[in-house]
Amino acid sequence: MEIVSALRVKSLYKIYGNRADKAVELLRDGADRDEKLADLPVTAAVVDANFEVRRGEIFVVMGLSGSGKSTLIRMLNGLLTPSYGTVEVDGVDITTLRPSALRKLRREKISMVFQHFALLPHRSVLDNAGYALEVAGVPRAERRERAHEALRMVGLDGWADKLPQELSGGMRQRVGLARALAAGTDIMLMDEAFSALDPLIRREVQDQLLELQADLGKTIVFITHDLNEAMRLGDRIAVMRDGRIVQIGTAEQILTDPSNDYVAQFVADVDRTRILTASSVMERPLGVVDVNSGPRVAARVLRETQTSAVYVTGRDKRFLGTVTADAATGAVRDGRQNLQEIVSTDHVRTVADDTPVADIFAPCAESPHPVAVVDADGRLAGVIPRVTLLSALGSVGTEVTGEPTRPEAAGGPGAGPAPAGTDGTTTPAARTPDPAPAVADTATPEVPAQVMADPPLRLEGEPA
Ligand SMILES: Nc1ncnc2c1ncn2[C@@H]1O[C@H](COP(=O)(O)OP(=O)(O)O)[C@@H](O)[C@H]1O
Ligand SMILES: [Mg+2]
Repeated sequence: MEIVSALRVKSLYKIYGNRADKAVELLRDGADRDEKLADLPVTAAVVDANFEVRRGEIFVVMGLSGSGKSTLIRMLNGLLTPSYGTVEVDGVDITTLRPSALRKLRREKISMVFQHFALLPHRSVLDNAGYALEVAGVPRAERRERAHEALRMVGLDGWADKLPQELSGGMRQRVGLARALAAGTDIMLMDEAFSALDPLIRREVQDQLLELQADLGKTIVFITHDLNEAMRLGDRIAVMRDGRIVQIGTAEQILTDPSNDYVAQFVADVDRTRILTASSVMERPLGVVDVNSGPRVAARVLRETQTSAVYVTGRDKRFLGTVTADAATGAVRDGRQNLQEIVSTDHVRTVADDTPVADIFAPCAESPHPVAVVDADGRLAGVIPRVTLLSALGSVGTEVTGEPTRPEAAGGPGAGPAPAGTDGTTTPAARTPDPAPAVADTATPEVPAQVMADPPLRLEGEPA
């Protein structure tokens, strides 16, 4: 079944300046475009953007200041007209709509929350929350009801009669959120909506958004220059650089498999333990035996693998527990035939494959043998020895060295030297039980100067 997209962007360009058409032509022609473009009085703010936003997902667009995020998001609701390309909202190309139709679209389908969204200082919180509805001509009673409902959702119903100045910064931002919610549109665009908040308040508002989203299932395009915010909120993240989208993927994909050095630099200092999950650090278990195979087989596998426990699976590869060397040799000695009797879960902890690495440390410490990782159906997906977990942790904040470190994948089809700048990030992926062949990445060899100087995205101040 085809996934229905709420938004679909194709070959989208926005060039500021007089010779926009010429610039698009040059850019579409390809090679040494930047050189040619230098002669034109233009700024290529968005270049050849292509993506779809799925219904109900939070799609984050992340990039440094000036990378084109605001320009991009403003084309999604027709506030800016593209220089080239199409934007489809629910299957309708909005780039050809007349101004009145665009206003209707913004009222009914796409609302927007800005960083410095203007709360009206002399009007109540309730009126502010219902402002978009007022502009849209919704009758007063209905407006108030919907605004109250939206305030309730963001936990501010008790503040309806207050003025904005009586609220804290975080609460004011929640009024902005309520305004977008009251509009009742399925699609919400949020341009740096939380960027002006201090970190703790910001965290709260992020949580609130995620909570609301779990209930409401809106389609959200969320712009941020903060990597951690992107990773926290985004179902998928598009990374922008100089007007181009350089990678689209889940937080985990971007961490474990950055498409080039630039992205790798961005993610170098993210808290991996929150993003990486059990499935991205687990290894293939050395000794696995079927429960029907008997103690003798278990003892042999233990000898061959020189491990102190084998992992036992039953029907459909479901994980049943471990058999230790002591138990296996004892059973063989006693002439027992049945492995079922000596399988135990006493010596191993089990975690789900989507457990964040941060939450695996405790089970790992308690587990005498490598932690067992199971999938949603209870099948044994892999194991995590303590040393693996520690080395995954060790890759946090690892500097780019350019050393190829994809030992297991190195011989696979299409494998080449690992791309520079991915050392710590790709190692866990390469350790998965079924490693995908490493794709020889044509990573750009040069690392952008400003990224070298200021690795974290957060360092870049946003213009007010
Ligand atoms: N109205 C405009 N006229 C000319 N250049 C602009 C205009 N708006 C933005 N730009 C330029 O376009 C580029 C992208 O800007 P913007 O979309 O605001 O990026 P971001 O939101 O990622 O900071 C920047 O180089 C910016 O200076
Ligand atoms: Mg911006």
